[in-house]
Amino acid sequence: MSPTPLPAESLGFAFADEALEARVRAGLESVEQALRDSTESEAPFVTAAAQHVMVAGGKRFRPLLVLIGAEFGPAAVEQHRDEVVKAAVVVELTHVATLHHDDVMDEAALRRGSATANARWDNSVAILSGDWLFARASDLVADLGPDAVRIQARTFGRLVEGQIRETLGVGEGQDPLKHYLSVVADKTGSLIATSALFGARFAGASEEVQESLRAFGEEIGVAFQLADDILDIAGDSGQSGKTPGTDLREGVPTLPVLIFRAQADPSNPDDARLLELLDSDLSDDARLAETLDLLRAHPAFTQAEDDVRRRAADARRLLSALPEGPARQALDSLCDLVVTRSV
Ligand code: IPE
Ligand code: IPE
Ligand code: MG
Ligand code: MG
Repeated sequence: MSPTPLPAESLGFAFADEALEARVRAGLESVEQALRDSTESEAPFVTAAAQHVMVAGGKRFRPLLVLIGAEFGPAAVEQHRDEVVKAAVVVELTHVATLHHDDVMDEAALRRGSATANARWDNSVAILSGDWLFARASDLVADLGPDAVRIQARTFGRLVEGQIRETLGVGEGQDPLKHYLSVVADKTGSLIATSALFGARFAGASEEVQESLRAFGEEIGVAFQLADDILDIAGDSGQSGKTPGTDLREGVPTLPVLIFRAQADPSNPDDARLLELLDSDLSDDARLAETLDLLRAHPAFTQAEDDVRRRAADARRLLSALPEGPARQALDSLCDLVVTRSV
């Protein structure tokens, strides 16, 4: 019989070390069960609304990072097992809660290959079930102690600030690229950093190792979001489980657009057309398709891909602060994967 598919398999992740793979696989299975158990309400509708996006799929990238981070704890990792799994559930529940809210903000209809909560029901249900998921995450993190509660609260605070600053857009006199990168670090780097940190922390790793993993998570988290933004332009919904072009349609400028705008030459007809399209209403399907085609073919797009590669390489360099072994090797492979997902 073939082993249970790893939820993270959609990332295409292959472990080089069999023993590590078996531990992570077992951990991810426990996480799946705990995700379901922790989102059962006495009200059947609440359960259905809260579990809809959660069980539709997802790469479980953050739980995966918690479990690999936990490998850096002392050998007697078993005694910490419950706490590590709980931490993985907390970060995934937090993530799914933010997806509910993000899909309302981005007016998205497709998530994880299924209808978003807002499309399946409506905005109110999506917002409230997202809040409810966050409440469940808060309840579980309380079992991990006051420090964990504080880390979780600050992480979520950063994430929400990132979303708010993205919504506000770049301020007068602010560098658009700097604004974008700081938004990405806050809205995505924050929770991915905490995932890696939580794994190490609840497996009893030293403060130094916890900090190294946090720093790695932050950097790979930024690369992960940049790759995802590139996929929004280059990918299809079969690949991402989301509707391509959502950022453009919602007027959220991401890396390829920002690079393009910084170097656009209005005397070049393609550039002039692309500028005109980017300033227009892209809820029109034909205009959106033309914009996507022009962007994909533009040198700015290749430069954005190069930037993702560079950032994944920066993340990889941070791994040298960690002890060598199969877990560090797995994180190294994760750096490749984040890149190959999109470029
Ligand atoms: C989606 O996160 C939002 C981003 C930070 C890009 P994921 O790409 O981890 O989404 P799922 O969990 O696999 O659906
Ligand atoms: C995702 O933002 C980040 C959070 C949910 C905090 P995006 O809007 O860029 O991600 P997708 O493309 O919808 O997954
Ligand atoms: Mg979105
Ligand atoms: Mg968004």
